[in-house]
Amino acid sequence: MKRIGMLTSGGDCQALNAAMRGVVKTIYNSGEEVEIFGFLSGYKGLINSDFRMLSSGDFSGILTKGGTILGSSRTPFKQITEPDEQGRDKIECMMHTYHKLNLDCLVILGGNGTHKTANLLRTKGLNVVTLPKTIDNDLWGTDMTFGFQSAVNIATDVIDCIHTTADSHGRVFIVEVMGHKTGWLTLNAGMASGADIILLPEIPYDIDAIIKAIKGRTKRGSKFTILAVAEGAISKEDAALSKKEYKKKLEKKVYPSVSYEVAAAIEEKTGMEVRVTVPGHMQRGGSPCPYDRVFASRLGAEAGKLILQGEYGFMVGYKNREIVKVPLEEVAGKLKTVPADATILEEARLLGISFGDQ
Ligand code: F6P
Repeated sequence: MKRIGMLTSGGDCQALNAAMRGVVKTIYNSGEEVEIFGFLSGYKGLINSDFRMLSSGDFSGILTKGGTILGSSRTPFKQITEPDEQGRDKIECMMHTYHKLNLDCLVILGGNGTHKTANLLRTKGLNVVTLPKTIDNDLWGTDMTFGFQSAVNIATDVIDCIHTTADSHGRVFIVEVMGHKTGWLTLNAGMASGADIILLPEIPYDIDAIIKAIKGRTKRGSKFTILAVAEGAISKEDAALSKKEYKKKLEKKVYPSVSYEVAAAIEEKTGMEVRVTVPGHMQRGGSPCPYDRVFASRLGAEAGKLILQGEYGFMVGYKNREIVKVPLEEVAGKLKTVPADATILEEARLLGISFGDQ
């Protein structure tokens, strides 16, 4: 008999349900008896011992369902180590819940912050297996996270739609893509949709280089230009500021986001009409794409296998086209950014895409 606690933490994404289903199906199909405690709203549920007993029926029909049947919330790592409103130690509370329910392990689905907490729980002696979710694909230790491909599809669709109207009106269009501090989503959606200029947090931009790229297109006869701009994109000047100075600048909130700042500069320097589209949380919503359904199911199945074997302290990830188990201490606290020497960047440049840097 296995007693398993399960939770989804942080920003949601597509295929969370598919991944949980994969874990549970694998355990049920092994013939092992299992009790599943579904903690509600992420770590909050574990802290407050707020859970629902789940049966196989709860995992039926959810392969294609977006969101998470458990609900999710953000509990930033910094706050995890601080006492809650009632003065309780959150880590103690989580450990108490785990031991009170006599759990064999916790299955935790989440991104970067979630993994830091999961690793901390591991160091406190709890058995933990994690699964890598996020549309940002910025989790260390795995080449891919589930949710990412679905979000790429959505952001690509948005830019595809923008293409036709940009063409009709001869305008410059900026589509702001999520991805937090990394550019994986923008890079892939931008390339998939034929964006002309792609701005990534990893490659600080120079507004004059962007103007040069736009003017170059006009000279070659193109009426419009499409920019895919990562929400975390940053100018060379801003990248040179100290963290404190940059924070101060953002606090002034002259522009709602980087895209509007870039748009204003383009309008001023070219006289062209610029429009900004921000698809926002749409990118995290809706059904998982087929790739994510399969991918999350595979990760879930492997996590189920680890649990059956009593192997804990791992994230189930994907490396060099294989599903692998990665020690949690290797994952926690590291961000996977787009490497400066990634060949995809060189290939994009060969295709004529500008990163607004030269
Ligand atoms: O991490 C996923 C993500 O969607 C990021 O791309 C984005 O920066 C952030 O979450 C938005 O967070 P929230 O849903 O809390 O506004």
